[in-house]
Amino acid sequence: MISIKKIKKYYNWGGRFLTNPFHTETNRINEIEVLKEPFRYDIINFLLNTLKRETNYLEIGVRNPSDNFNKINAISKYSVDPGIEFKENPVDFVMTSDVFFEKLINGEILNQEIRFDIIFIDGLHLADQVERDITNALKFIKEDGFIVMHDCNPPTEWHARESYTYDLSPARQYWNGTTWKAFTKTRLNQEVTSACIDTDWGIGVITKQPVFNNLKHNLNPYFEFFILDQNRKELLNLMSIDEFKLHFS
Ligand SMILES: C[S@@+](CC[C@H](N)C(=O)[O-])C[C@H]1O[C@@H](n2cnc3c(N)ncnc32)[C@H](O)[C@@H]1O
Repeated sequence: MISIKKIKKYYNWGGRFLTNPFHTETNRINEIEVLKEPFRYDIINFLLNTLKRETNYLEIGVRNPSDNFNKINAISKYSVDPGIEFKENPVDFVMTSDVFFEKLINGEILNQEIRFDIIFIDGLHLADQVERDITNALKFIKEDGFIVMHDCNPPTEWHARESYTYDLSPARQYWNGTTWKAFTKTRLNQEVTSACIDTDWGIGVITKQPVFNNLKHNLNPYFEFFILDQNRKELLNLMSIDEFKLHFS
């Protein structure tokens, strides 16, 4: 049987949810981040518009299509999701991104020659998966196309945790995972340039064109969160939406 002493201890621990600075400060940050605009679909539509042609869009990780997929203004759109978070899962390809790209490469779905104007990567937010998604996406974007990524700028280490389901963390239900590690690692690839817009949890944009910049050396070899936090501008090429748009004027 649980003792009164233990009950008191657990009660006090629970109360820290409302008073502990890790929790109160992180909650304040959540409230700021969710109000930031533009949203991911605004940025994707902006980039599609810059291409001035009929466009072809692929979304990896869709959940509820009303949140993003249905808002994208492209002529042809394809969606991939194994259906982990949204029961209805009304997507074109009910499968993981790994299986999708394997089938695409083997000519079992769509057409091996297909190239997308934008591939939006928003599936499993763990760095090794995201890195595979980027590597595969680079094979299937047009020379002047873009990879767009959600969740590249986690505001705290709690948002950058590995366990999605642990919502007693100070970040509560918000989760960016370790996507930032795959994004910053890709910034070391000299064949692409990239930037991250400071809105909607960090919208990463990668292109084969010399539009942005890349990293010449890795100043965060152990991918430590605190080093990201001290060097966001350089590691992510973090910028405002106005600064981002200047690259297209
Ligand atoms: C954050 S949600 C996507 C949100 C959506 N893109 C949006 O902007 O509103 C992540 C989705 O990724 C899916 N997912 C999880 N693992 C995946 C994988 N290995 N490949 C593709 N999708 C995956 C989940 O089922 C979930 O629906």
